[in-house]
Amino acid sequence: MSSEATSSKKPCGCCWPIFSSSIGRKWVVALTGIILVLFVIGHLLGNLSIFAGPDAMNAYAAFLKSAGELLWVVRIGLIICVVLHIWFTITLWRENLAARPQKYAVKDHLSTTVYARLMRISGLTVLAFVIYHLAQFTWEAFNPDYKGWVDAQGRHDVYRMVVTAFQCPFVSGFYILAVGLLGMHLSHGIASLFQTLGITSKKMRPLFEQGGLVVAWLIFLGFASIPASVLLGLVKTTPVLPACPLCH
Ligand code: HEM
Repeated sequence: MSSEATSSKKPCGCCWPIFSSSIGRKWVVALTGIILVLFVIGHLLGNLSIFAGPDAMNAYAAFLKSAGELLWVVRIGLIICVVLHIWFTITLWRENLAARPQKYAVKDHLSTTVYARLMRISGLTVLAFVIYHLAQFTWEAFNPDYKGWVDAQGRHDVYRMVVTAFQCPFVSGFYILAVGLLGMHLSHGIASLFQTLGITSKKMRPLFEQGGLVVAWLIFLGFASIPASVLLGLVKTTPVLPACPLCH
């Protein structure tokens, strides 16, 4: 590939060469994507402790909080990943738009799936969901009572907080919708990041595409199973609080 093909006409003004070539930017999008997917899988596995009961979930949440400064290092790392992932996706998208007249007449299969076409909207919806989610469970902005909920061991009662919130069908419905969009985003994202990193040969590509789909929809099923189980009464908190569409 010629150097003209791999670098944008307008350098981003940044001093790091990796940021001023489109291949470099694609790598940043792919690597930050991998880190975010690993976070999502770790978060899902931690949240599935809800099925083991209040003690398991509250112990897991207390363990995370006990990480102290390390937790902040992880949080700051994740914020940097989100910013870089979005920023370079936007710059690559703008470059693609600018190069549109020279586009190949035949697009590859991966870039024409419905998930690929919905990448920007699904990504932005997931971002909006994460901000809502942080306001609900991390900043506890919607229900100030959450802050005072502690279990018999004096730990923050995260189990009760989550189950109470998901007793509201609107909250649960929104979560299921949001993690559905996350599944769509990852369906395309996981397969295409392997392509960007050059790990897929033409022969291997279908394997990575199918693998990406399976991982993405397992992530969806795992997250969606939590609000769905609360709505179905399979996961409960005592005393059961009345579901309220507005306050949880
Ligand atoms: C059913 C689905 C989910 C449940 C039950 C859930 C539960 C929680 C809870 C309880 C917390 C607060 C932990 C604490 O402060 O003790 C939290 C934080 C968080 N969640 Fe989720 N979550 C879900 C889905 C997601 C998804 C899909 C994402 C990302 C796409 C996500 C991203 C985050 C982030 C970034 C934090 C902040 C972590 C931190 O405090 O450092 N969550 N989640």
